[in-house]
Amino acid sequence: MKILVLGGAGYIGSHTVYALLDAGHSVVVADNLLTGFRSAVHPEAKFYLGDIRDIHFLNDLFAREKVDVVIHFAACSLVGESVKDPLKYYDNNLYGTKVLLEAMVSNGVDKIVFSSTAATYGEPKRVPILEGDPTEPTNPYGETKLAMEKMFKWVSNAHGLRYVSLRYFNACGAHESGRIGEAHNPESHLIPLILQVPGGKRPFISIFGGDYPTKDGTCVRDYIHVMDLAQAHILAAQYLLNGGASDIFNLGNGVGFTVKEVIDVARAVTGHPIPARMEDRRAGDPAQLIASSDKARSVLGWNPQHADLEEIVASAWKWHHTHPNGYEE
Ligand code: UFG
Repeated sequence: MKILVLGGAGYIGSHTVYALLDAGHSVVVADNLLTGFRSAVHPEAKFYLGDIRDIHFLNDLFAREKVDVVIHFAACSLVGESVKDPLKYYDNNLYGTKVLLEAMVSNGVDKIVFSSTAATYGEPKRVPILEGDPTEPTNPYGETKLAMEKMFKWVSNAHGLRYVSLRYFNACGAHESGRIGEAHNPESHLIPLILQVPGGKRPFISIFGGDYPTKDGTCVRDYIHVMDLAQAHILAAQYLLNGGASDIFNLGNGVGFTVKEVIDVARAVTGHPIPARMEDRRAGDPAQLIASSDKARSVLGWNPQHADLEEIVASAWKWHHTHPNGYEE
């Protein structure tokens, strides 16, 4: 199949491009490179520099490339930033997706796989979280992703487009080659921040809160390897091509690890003592986020291959210690 990957220079997008090419698909990438990196894009993928808010760019792209499915990663995704600058999220995420849908409808492109997030649930009432559980986002990032899901639903209803929304839990790890990996500037995610300590870029890791109602007082998250996420996108695209109905799926391993447990695994993987310092809670952090991904397993046939946290952290370490400055070298 021929796939258009929007945001294919970003973290999860770039890994999905590698997986798509590995599976023999033809891949076109579009990215505005505001947070993505040109060198993260696989050399065999055709690259277009542009922004999804630009209808002329999209119309031209759809005229040139007859794609079967769009995979849409092109969004801002930092919870803290979204609280400080909500309109940036409404503009890039919500308005950007509105322009994209306009272009898809007018160009007759009717299948899309879309990055959603566990942040659509907010503070969960129970774990593991099921797709039908209440969605009450606690930040503009989750709110815009939820609004995007609803936009897909109504556009699908009106214009016959079909979509799969994938609600990721905590994406982590890197491609086995060590050529691509996670890179944010500034870095904001737990595993890359922990690995900056053995990488010599940070003297200690801060633990945001030790008084949560969890087994060791630190937050619990469901860490899912980026290549397992990539596989889910391929399965979702195939599902749509096979006539599958629009639907929403959680993607996680169904197992939670505390912040302290993740730090311990990183100590074991790197052989570095990784000093940790307890700090206050970070605003808006739910105590526990654990996915039920039974639906993705049964409907899409998804079967994560890298659930072991040590393997996940080792793959991240392979990338970070060979690319201490990410792509900026
Ligand atoms: N944490 C620390 N110290 C740090 C960084 C993070 O203790 O230096 C903790 C956080 O408080 C949290 C956990 O580590 O408990 C994981 O934090 P991340 O920032 O890595 O990830 P989040 O769980 O906050 O966010 C992730 C995705 C978001 C998504 C969200 C769903 O990165 O895109 O899950 O709630 F929205």
